[in-house]
Amino acid sequence: MTENLKPKREAWGTRIGLVLAMAGNATGLGNYLRFPVQAAQNGGGAFMIPYFCALLFLAVPLMWCEWAMGRMGGEKGHGTTPGIFPLLWKHPLAKYIGAIGVLLPVAVGIYYVYVQSWTLAYTFFAVLGKYAGIASKEGMSQFLSNFQGVNSAWGVSETAYVFFLATMAVNTIILMGGIQKGVERVANWGMPVLIFLSIMLVIRILTLGAPDPSQPDNNVWNGMGFIWNPDFSQLTNSKVWLAAAGQIFFTLSVGFGMIQVYASYLRSKDDVVVNGLSTTMVNEWGEVILGGTIAIPIAYAFFGPVGTVEVAQGGAFNLGFATMPLVLDRLPMSLLCGTSWFFLLFIAGTLSQIALVYPGITFLQDELKWSRKKAVAVISALVFIAAHIPILGLRNGALDEIDFWAGTFGVGLFALMEVVIFVWIFKPENAWKEINKGAQVNAPKIFLWILKYVTPVYLAILFAAWAIQQGPAVLSMEGVSGQDAAWRWAARLLLLGIFAVLVFLIRRAWKKQEVLP
Ligand code: ALA
Repeated sequence: MTENLKPKREAWGTRIGLVLAMAGNATGLGNYLRFPVQAAQNGGGAFMIPYFCALLFLAVPLMWCEWAMGRMGGEKGHGTTPGIFPLLWKHPLAKYIGAIGVLLPVAVGIYYVYVQSWTLAYTFFAVLGKYAGIASKEGMSQFLSNFQGVNSAWGVSETAYVFFLATMAVNTIILMGGIQKGVERVANWGMPVLIFLSIMLVIRILTLGAPDPSQPDNNVWNGMGFIWNPDFSQLTNSKVWLAAAGQIFFTLSVGFGMIQVYASYLRSKDDVVVNGLSTTMVNEWGEVILGGTIAIPIAYAFFGPVGTVEVAQGGAFNLGFATMPLVLDRLPMSLLCGTSWFFLLFIAGTLSQIALVYPGITFLQDELKWSRKKAVAVISALVFIAAHIPILGLRNGALDEIDFWAGTFGVGLFALMEVVIFVWIFKPENAWKEINKGAQVNAPKIFLWILKYVTPVYLAILFAAWAIQQGPAVLSMEGVSGQDAAWRWAARLLLLGIFAVLVFLIRRAWKKQEVLP
């Protein structure tokens, strides 16, 4: 009888659908824009040493923990960490710590949707030839600022706002479809198209050679050297280790609380070891091989070493929306190349954005017993309203502020809490059993040791370094002007406000039930 009263949870339709959705969750703008800039800024090939250390000692073990926690919670009707943590730690605080696992992804989703909307806009611009003929980096940067409207009275242009609305509508329609008819369906066609377009661009770029015959050294192969030749002196710089770990968290979506949500729709005997590893590998292949081969090497072929340093220092948005359209526009079949680039970013951004807001939806469905439609409507409305802070405060650093607190500081802190709760409080042997339950191949035993000691210590050092090195400057808003400070405060209050609402909702929901502590 009680079984019948339990809310019926959706499940993934097929295993391939699950892997594609999880890979789509991870593969995003981080792979194509953030990664090449981070690698180029932090020692090129030498960046890959701390990067692979973070992959092996942080991301893979954390990924297995998050998949296992999610599947375990899902079996009991809880897909988000406020409901999952109390199953692992019978303490009243557990549910409130779990609230961070809903806050972080939704907070990132609040600004990510705006960047996603730029990719949609630029797909149209590429098709319509709107930026065709702009011949200089300055001209293209100007086109980007005009499009964003950062110099207009409101700080946003009508065009950018209309594309933001359109993107919100597309996302909401997908979310309304739920897991099988929404996320899985879009991932099933989106991921193959994304991979196809990426490979096509990679082939085009690798066969480019030197576009200017009078400067034969400015070619794609030297561009590959620029991004991959190691500068080992960088390895003693803690900044490089922090940047590498930050990139690994961001690109794989670990440490946010969002992997648990997709994993909660697994069936109880579904494998997490092989599936978790497969999606990690798909993302890493997409990031290191595809993401690393597209943007920087082509920029080098056109602008040479000095110009490429400038490009890398200009940041991920500049690379994606100013440099890339400029260089792709100079290739034969420029319309096809430009459209492919922005459409692939749109697919990557859409699949990640859906995954970023899903924790909010699943939380309302599981813990407040809301219908999917109501939960989607409320979360979409929240994202829509809150996004006005990063949109209107873009020129004042509001987006960066949310990104630092949620996407860097918050993720480091939350990952540490997860590992302590799942491995140490829930007990290592229980965690290990949970990870290997239903596994086609058991995880290598060495990872139990890594999980117990290496991952938490590594995370604690990272988090402390983030907090000590960057925290005080960010907290005190060093060198930030009055108007910027107001927007940055608005961003902080937004995060605190969402957290307070979550705590309130959790208190209310828990009063009605007497099962979880
Ligand atoms: N993992 C997502 C990305 O890389 C958030 O963009």
